[in-house]
Order: sequence, then C-alpha cells, then structure tokens
Amino acid sequence: MKLFIDTANLDEIREISSWGVLDGVTTNPTILSREKMDYRTLIDAILKLVDGPISVEAVNEKAEKIIEEARILSKISENIVVKIPITPEGLAATKVLSKEGVKINMTLVFSVNQSILAAKAGATYASPFLGRLDDIGSDGMTLLSDIVTVYQNYGFKTQIIAASIRSPQHVVDAALIGADVCTIPYKVFTQMVRHPLTDKGIERFLNDWKKVKK
Ligand code: G3P
Repeated sequence: MKLFIDTANLDEIREISSWGVLDGVTTNPTILSREKMDYRTLIDAILKLVDGPISVEAVNEKAEKIIEEARILSKISENIVVKIPITPEGLAATKVLSKEGVKINMTLVFSVNQSILAAKAGATYASPFLGRLDDIGSDGMTLLSDIVTVYQNYGFKTQIIAASIRSPQHVVDAALIGADVCTIPYKVFTQMVRHPLTDKGIERFLNDWKKVKK
C-alpha cells in the first residue's frame, strides 16, 4: 500500500518524508486554506520535498473550465495529479483529460456507483472519503471493501485511495481490505509509529546498557 500524506503543511511533509515512508501528497482547498503561503509557492515547495504524486484540486464546476484548469495545473510538473469532484461535469472533464494523459484523482467519492463511473471515465485514482461516511453513521470501510471487490471483478486500473482517514485503525482496515493508497493526516502518522511497549522496551534496553561491562 502506498502512503500519502493529507496535508499542505511543509513541516509535516518534511518530517514524514524524512522517515522514508512517504509516496505522495494529497491536498484540497480546505487543507490549502490552513497555510499562510500562497498556494502556487506552496505547491512548488511540496514538489521539491516529495518525488511522487501530488494531488491539487480543480475548483471550476463546468467541464470546459475544469479541463482548462486541469491542463494548467498538470503543466506545473509531471507529478501533479488533478483532483476533480465526482459530478457529471467532472466525469466529462476526466474522460477528456485522461485521454490526454492528465492524471486525475476523482474525489468526494461516497458510493460504489460513483467509483464505477470514475473508473469508466479513466481516472488514475478514486478517493472514497471513509471518515466522513463514519461521521454520518454510515460505514466507510464497507464502501472501501465493496469498491475493491468491484474493481477486482472487472480489472479496473483506477487506484483506490482510502481518504478522510481519522485513526491508525482506519489505516490497518484499509490495508487489510487492499486499498492501493492510504492518504493519512500527519497526526495519524505520528500515532501509527508509537506503541507503549516499544517505549517501555527502549527505556529498559537503555537502562540495561548502563549495566553492560564496557
Ligand atoms: O483526502 C481527503 C481528506 O482531505 C478529507 O478529509 O478529514 O476533511 O474528511 P476530512
């Protein structure tokens, strides 16, 4: 499973990248709005930090305008993936853009039907938002599992990004189900690496090291 970080914060990206585990970055307008830097400078800085797919969202709603915007974004770097919300206009734009070789991450996916349409339109990635479904009393993991099954049934090439991740358990479940990618907030990365028995074990080994004859 590839691990992306779901942030535009350069310190967070730098730190997780330094662990040697980072395959890419996803952003959205909300994530970009949390940073002080203007978004183009930010995207350029992220591209310098991570050599992998960087998702940036198109904000136009009409197919023609989405296409225009996506072409501009994709010219920034071959690592740019354009996020497009799943709508009829978004699908139409994705069909055109995917034929041109523009990589699309079809976002705000909340149903198997939407994921089928994203794959048929040629999206490189589809992003089901697991946490947001859980938030309304639905079950994000069941959706993820169903999408994995359907994509396997038909050999769809679109990669599934488990998105809207809220906890380390979400990451484990997404991995067990077989998501291609998990895009993880910084806080969840820091929760994934820690275990109380690891901390306790290190403390004991360091204490015992002091007793070793040197
Ligand atoms: O990658 C999708 C993500 O940014 C949405 O997460 O926490 O806003 O539901 P969240």
